[in-house]
Amino acid sequence: MSARSTRRALASLLLAGLCASSIATAQVADPLAATGRWSANTDGSAPLPPMGWNSWNAFNSDVDEEKVLASARALVDTKLAALGYRYVVIDDGWWLKRRQPDGRMLIRTSHFPSAATGSDTSFRPLTDRLHAMGLKAGIYSDIGRNSCGQIYTPDFKNQPEGSVAEREVGLYGHVDQDIRLYFADWNFDFIKVDGCGARGLPADAPRVRSGLYRALPPLVDMQSLGGSDVAGIRALYEQVHTALRTHAAGRDYVYALCLWGAGDVRAWGKDVGNMSRTSDDIQPVWARMLTNFDTVTHRALYAHPGSWNDPDMLFVGTGDFDAAHLTEARSHFALWAMVNAPLIIGYDLRALTPKLQAIFGNAEIVALNQDAAGNQAVLAYDSDEVQILVKTLADGEKAVAVFNRTAAPAKAVMTAAQLKLNPAADVRLRDLWSKATQTFRGELLLALAPHETRIFRVSGTRRMPNGRYLSELTGRVNAAVDGVVVPEPDPTIHHSITPWIGTRGAGEHPQYGGWGGAEVDRAPYGKLMRVAGKEYDTGIGVLSNSRLEVRNAGYATFTASVGVNDSGQPGSGTTTFEVWGDGRLLARSRAMAFGDPAAPLTANVRGVRIVELVARASGAPVGARPAPAIWADAALLR
Ligand code: GLA
Repeated sequence: MSARSTRRALASLLLAGLCASSIATAQVADPLAATGRWSANTDGSAPLPPMGWNSWNAFNSDVDEEKVLASARALVDTKLAALGYRYVVIDDGWWLKRRQPDGRMLIRTSHFPSAATGSDTSFRPLTDRLHAMGLKAGIYSDIGRNSCGQIYTPDFKNQPEGSVAEREVGLYGHVDQDIRLYFADWNFDFIKVDGCGARGLPADAPRVRSGLYRALPPLVDMQSLGGSDVAGIRALYEQVHTALRTHAAGRDYVYALCLWGAGDVRAWGKDVGNMSRTSDDIQPVWARMLTNFDTVTHRALYAHPGSWNDPDMLFVGTGDFDAAHLTEARSHFALWAMVNAPLIIGYDLRALTPKLQAIFGNAEIVALNQDAAGNQAVLAYDSDEVQILVKTLADGEKAVAVFNRTAAPAKAVMTAAQLKLNPAADVRLRDLWSKATQTFRGELLLALAPHETRIFRVSGTRRMPNGRYLSELTGRVNAAVDGVVVPEPDPTIHHSITPWIGTRGAGEHPQYGGWGGAEVDRAPYGKLMRVAGKEYDTGIGVLSNSRLEVRNAGYATFTASVGVNDSGQPGSGTTTFEVWGDGRLLARSRAMAFGDPAAPLTANVRGVRIVELVARASGAPVGARPAPAIWADAALLR
């Protein structure tokens, strides 16, 4: 065979292979096909948002055994542990080096003396002590070869030592070895996996050029979702998931992703880990707390038992949230509790005062966070100034937080309608800070001090007595496919000054690619739910070409009014709404166009475990933004 014909034969073989593989992809790749299963992560052990303490906010990398144990003892002595603060997590700074040539990680025994168990070093004595105290132990690593501290922190204490290879302390290339060591040998229960090594070491980085670290082509570009290798970074985090299944199976463990909302982790973090950071690091600064908080408030459908949104650790006790700013400290804590954030204390507990302890130890607020239903609070009222968040509890009661974001006093009217309670009946409130109770009908005027959050437990007469609105069951609804075609950062997130660069450059750009995602009680892009001029105050708004999974809990009927939201565009094709039960089609709407009045859709879901709500687009012009599909008044009835 001539060289040319060999090349031609090879080319046609390649083409045949490509065609076969693209046909195969087309066959398996209908993401809207009902699967009858819940696709969000259920591995690990996080039926409730994890609670505990982490060394980073208190000590940065200057962490040692005495500090860790003192914090652990304080958790036990103050009874915070009994309230649920069980995970004691050692963040960046524990490692000495990766031994060569066997790659075993060595601990900095000058700071963790009990780890000096011989040439191997071991955290087992420390985790044994924590376990004996009734606590759980957590460790920190990075998905790349190097850690955040190595790459970004200029005055980093306890830098790993030795040769380039010895300083490669991250998981990259060692996932199985390290996870086995941390979980099977050292007996940790929790791992936080940071992502700096997969972003900060391009070949031209100064610390690569100087020979300090090896280059790793970045998978994550913090400023460009398009420039991030989303599949690549996801695959690395999935390797850790797989290793945990192998080496920590059969016991409780928590897998915490720390990718700051970058790499489109919004869309997949919930399928891979137990908690997933939605923002860059929190700082003890009011405006920064707002930034972090804003990255989760529109994301209730991306958090469930087993996979929580993580706006980062608590900074209660420090800076704008210190003992002289208890209003701010209480707000920060109440908001984190409402959005089901993991409650991870970041304070030096040796310095805990009774007033700070009363915040962390507010059992009724902790109970909201730890409510078994796992429904993240939903924004019932939103503005740049006051926000009202409502969370439906397992027993059908509500919690509500009324939050003044501003530095001025504010007046807020809270309505029974916002709580989805009957306005003609009594609504009873219990203030979870003062413990005072009161009753109102219709609406209530509240005066808020600057930065104050009023937080109440509420009971009344439910507007939906015979079941639940889906917006009251967010912990049971998973935005499996949310229709977002081009992930974009959410522009409504508060842009704070990033403390690490100040006002140099063009300003802060939050990384969370969640704009246009599935929303509760509003249309995508935060728009009002309105179909053919008719407004709805409850339901789920999601882009067309989406599939929502709903865990049914013994309900008999699904009902909704479906249509294309008025925030869409005429001439954008049609959307057909389908209800599936355990993989079988139960109901389908006609094709709905922009301007069509919403149509009722009902399905018998008795005995069904997983209901899937599929909104399929057809006939949309090429390049058009997917039409906003509204499942108005969506509810499960007994
Ligand atoms: C990153 C993480 C922080 C902390 C530091 C440690 O910045 O987001 O939470 O773990 O790394 O270096």
